[in-house]
Amino acid sequence: MEIGRTSRLDEPPNGAAMLLFGLRNGKVGVGGAAGRLREIHAFELNTRQALRSMAWYAPRLDWSAIGSARLVGAGVLMAQDALSALPESWRRALRRFAIKPIGHGMSDANLFRLRDDVRAERLYLKVHRGEAAQTELRNEVERTKWLAARGIMVPRFVRLCEDSLLAAVLMTALPGRHPQHAHIPLPELIRQLAEGLRKLHSIPASDCPFDETVWARLARARSAIAEGLVDPDYFSERNQGLAPQAIYTRLMRTVPEHEDIVVVHGDATFDNLLIDDAGNVGFIDCGHTGRGDRYLDLATMVADIEAYFGPDCIPLFARSYGHAAFDERKLGFFTDLYELF
Ligand SMILES: Nc1ncnc2c1ncn2[C@@H]1O[C@H](COP(=O)(O)OP(=O)(O)O)[C@@H](O)[C@H]1O
Ligand SMILES: [Mg+2]
Repeated sequence: MEIGRTSRLDEPPNGAAMLLFGLRNGKVGVGGAAGRLREIHAFELNTRQALRSMAWYAPRLDWSAIGSARLVGAGVLMAQDALSALPESWRRALRRFAIKPIGHGMSDANLFRLRDDVRAERLYLKVHRGEAAQTELRNEVERTKWLAARGIMVPRFVRLCEDSLLAAVLMTALPGRHPQHAHIPLPELIRQLAEGLRKLHSIPASDCPFDETVWARLARARSAIAEGLVDPDYFSERNQGLAPQAIYTRLMRTVPEHEDIVVVHGDATFDNLLIDDAGNVGFIDCGHTGRGDRYLDLATMVADIEAYFGPDCIPLFARSYGHAAFDERKLGFFTDLYELF
């Protein structure tokens, strides 16, 4: 499938985008783009389907082409198709809501924001498709519930659906904004983020059944590399030009002697955190929560704080978290481990 002219239809806040594109074979395609628009996950549609999809997205049609995007494969579902794949009982139950697709987060799941203004209800719908769908969803549900039972602010699940092709979850909307959009003075925000993470890391880890330790993650990284699932295009600047295997080999050589085990979120980026006006930190996308080194979360948080607010904030973040300074070697190791995640 060759891509001709491409237009961006919707740009959700998480950096993904829905796209409509003309294919050189004369057909029209619609799909989602992830990351920095380097990739288009595309599938072909006939014109009628494409037009229907356009009606869904059309209000903000923008014809700026993104010719440098690279087609990586078929299979990511259009938002609307994900909705129509839901069981009839779900579609009936969802009728009272205004539904807005918000594209993709970091996974291939389709996300929707649902609003019922009459009942003042706000929900999120996450739809996974394909082989790994059920495992991913089950991990997320199980681990999120485990955190909820320990007083961590996480979404509550309202409805679950699992069949062989589709897994969907309807959950409450967590209050608050992602840190980069919070209306809180910066030093206070940094302190609150540190406190939120500290609270998560204070849960007793001994009875946590989920394994996110270094060796568990390295084993998963090895399989991901073998299956060609690690894309070096997404590596941070310091690892640009390196092959995934080279990072893996370096990691194997530098495994920290001691793991400082706590309950980690496991994917603690700003996109998976929300902070409310009172400074309470909530966590979403908790499918990788488990027993792991605290630096697993510290590495991703430090990276996002630096990216959004600059490196000058890190000493305050470290002190507020309860460390005089961070261990740079460990930060480096866990940043690299996250590259292969
Ligand atoms: N329960 C929720 N409450 C508030 N926002 C949510 C919720 N679920 C998802 N979101 C929003 O949707 C985005 C993507 O959802 P997420 O579960 O992180 O998907 P992915 O697994 O694809 O990263 C989040 O970054 C957040 O902005
Ligand atoms: Mg996410």
